[in-house]
Order: sequence, then structure tokens, then C-alpha cells
Amino acid sequence: MKLEGIEVAFDSQVVLKNISVEIPRGEVFVLMGPSGQGKTTLLKTMAGLITPRNGKVFIDGKDWLTLDGDARFETLKKLGMLFQKNALFDSLTCGENIAFPLRETTDLNQDEINTKVDAFLEAVGISHAKLLYPDEISGGMQKRLGIARALALNPEIIFYDDPTAGLDPITSRRIVELILDLQKKNGSTVVAITNDVNRAYQMAHRIAMVVNQELVITGTPEQTRNHPDPRVQQFMKGLLKGPLTEHSP
Ligand SMILES: Nc1ncnc2c1ncn2[C@@H]1O[C@H](COP(=O)(O)OP(=O)(O)O)[C@@H](O)[C@H]1O
Ligand SMILES: [Mg+2]
Repeated sequence: MKLEGIEVAFDSQVVLKNISVEIPRGEVFVLMGPSGQGKTTLLKTMAGLITPRNGKVFIDGKDWLTLDGDARFETLKKLGMLFQKNALFDSLTCGENIAFPLRETTDLNQDEINTKVDAFLEAVGISHAKLLYPDEISGGMQKRLGIARALALNPEIIFYDDPTAGLDPITSRRIVELILDLQKKNGSTVVAITNDVNRAYQMAHRIAMVVNQELVITGTPEQTRNHPDPRVQQFMKGLLKGPLTEHSP
């Protein structure tokens, strides 16, 4: 995936300016940065959910935001997303939540879908929750379900918006282990937002920070730790001092 000169504005508020970055296949790319600076906006722009005022997003070499009809749908199927608030279907069981995208976008029959649903539930460790509803399971299990649903169509690129938000440290570490396991199995590209330094270092090949409408690519965890940009240092120090939890919409 490649971004070229991305600029996003809401009315007169410019949120992102001239952002260019190439994220090679199989990379785990982590976005950090203060709340309200545009991390979610950038992720949604990559995923085609927000139209930038300027710039291009290339997926498999195609300027995908300009595609329409079948061509757009073909690219859309290569993408999976875990939203900040999971965006699960509350009126569907956990199993049905995973079945939904399969039913909508594939030719699989009911038996085949059921087999896949079981496999995904098992892969994220919540087989026992198949017939339960999302509000009957814990926050950590809801994240697992969101991940399973994001992966249901075997996407090439998966976007995770703050996958460990609100989870305790042990559950957070397990969720990131799961993300990495699944990433290695499929060789998929991962773009993930987190402000948990430990989780960022655990998962990232490269880290970047959204700050002042810019994307500062700080590099590997090691390079990020020793990054010369004072904004990066200040932000990382602040995170290490105390837990910074996000309450942004
Ligand atoms: N759909 C929208 N309409 C108007 N403003 C928005 C919208 N989405 C985000 N914003 C604004 O863009 C800025 C960046 O938001 P966001 O990307 O959610 O930040 P982050 O994920 O880094 O916390 C904020 O000022 C937010 O209020
Ligand atoms: Mg956000």
C-alpha cells in the first residue's frame, strides 16, 4: 500500500497534510500520537471510508479511491478492519457476526460458512461463545470477535484501530500475540493504532506518529526510542510516565 500526498479536511479544519508513505506487504506498521490528531482519520482514509481532499491511496498498484463498481468491490474485499468500538452487530450472535461478511460477499453455502465460522472462532480462542450475543461476552472477547470478523474474508491488509483499548495488560498482550500470529500465518499487512508503548514495541516493524497534521515515521522500535525529534521524545516520555487512555470518538 502506498499513500501519496494525502490531505484530509473536515469543513475548514485540516486534519492531515501531505502524507506520503509506502507500507510494504507483510509489514506491521503502527500509528501512535496524541488523541485527536488524526490517527483514526488516516486509517479510515487508507481503508476508503474517508475521501481525502487531495492525494492518492494505492493498493496493489491501483489508485483505489478512484475505482468504482466491481473494481472497487474487488479491492474492498482485500481489506479488513477492526473499529475502535468494535462495531459488532449486537442483534446477531458471535457466530453470525462472522458469518455475515461471508454470506454477503462470497458464494459459500451454509455448511461452508459454518465451517469457516468455527475455524475463526477457534483461531481467536472464543469457540464457546458461538451462540452468545456480543453483550454477553467480556471486552477482551469482543475484541477477539472483532478481529475474527475483520479476518473472515482473508484480507491482504488489516486495519486495527486501538485493538487493546480498555483491556487489562495481560489481555492486551494476548490480543497483540493473536494479531501477530494471524499476521504471520497469512503474510498480511497490518496497520494498527495504539498508544500503548509496550504493545507498539511488541508488534511494530515500523512506528509512525501523527502529530501537527504530519506523519513522522520514527522507524523501528529501537529507532523510535532514540528518535531525535523533540515532539516524539516528549510524546513517548508522557506515555511512559502514566497510562494514557483515549476517549476520542
Ligand atoms: N467525521 C468527522 N467529521 C468532522 N470532524 C472529524 C470527523 N472525524 C474526525 N474529525 C476530527 O478530526 C480530528 C482527528 O480525529 P481522529 O482521527 O479521530 O483522531 P485520533 O484517532 O488521533 O484520536 C479531530 O479533531 C476530530 O474531531
Ligand atoms: Mg482514534
